[in-house]
Amino acid sequence: MRRKLAAGNWKMNGTRAALSEIAAMAEAAKGAAEVLICPPATLIAEAAGANTGVAIGGQDCHAEAKGAHTGDLSADMLKDAGASHVILGHSERREDHDEHDDHVRAKTRAAWEAGLVVVLCCGETLAEREAQNTLDIIGGQLAGSIPDGATGHNLVVAYEPIWAIGTGKVPTTDQIGEVHDFIRARLEKRFGEGVGRSVRLLYGGSVKPANATEIFAVSNVDGALVGGASLKAADFVPIIEALNASA
Ligand code: 13P
Repeated sequence: MRRKLAAGNWKMNGTRAALSEIAAMAEAAKGAAEVLICPPATLIAEAAGANTGVAIGGQDCHAEAKGAHTGDLSADMLKDAGASHVILGHSERREDHDEHDDHVRAKTRAAWEAGLVVVLCCGETLAEREAQNTLDIIGGQLAGSIPDGATGHNLVVAYEPIWAIGTGKVPTTDQIGEVHDFIRARLEKRFGEGVGRSVRLLYGGSVKPANATEIFAVSNVDGALVGGASLKAADFVPIIEALNASA
């Protein structure tokens, strides 16, 4: 059985005043689904130290364990601050920081070395979807970004169509199901059925309380990676509850 996962990516949002939002998610985090918030790195230690029952993760890490990399954070540092997870390969990192699959693969290895669960993102642009290249793009990202050694314990895959992120546009449930079924099949083929079936698959891109129930009913959707609607407990708690109800 795959435990459902409601994950929030705060991106570059939130100062210490926002920690009360995580505290306000604590009650909802006692349900069947695991709840994860990835705040800015500045908040990880305090958020994790609050022991709310909400897991805390980073949004990126460096591939090296330490060294002359000004401004970067190692996976060990995230772990030491109290993070249990790290998002890697988000399209905003791929775009803003010119990250490619080989970088994401190296970072994933480093995160696993540190004992972090990796939430690995993949997704196509609108042009790629319109050219009917979605599955090729996703297949390439999975092959290139995931190192050998994936398990249901160290890897979560998030499908985030780039055109759906922060836009209010959401793929149809058929489109989401097609990609999630494809990801599941690829993971089973590469890592074997047992492992392939145990990796949780999240959908991300304009998930809101109003569309969560419909998305959570789609085949091979084990939860969501939520941006904007994870910043406030008032928005995220109904999404967590929809996921709990979908089990
Ligand atoms: P939105 O939920 O704001 O569309 O962001 C999705 C996302 O990028 C999560 O990583």
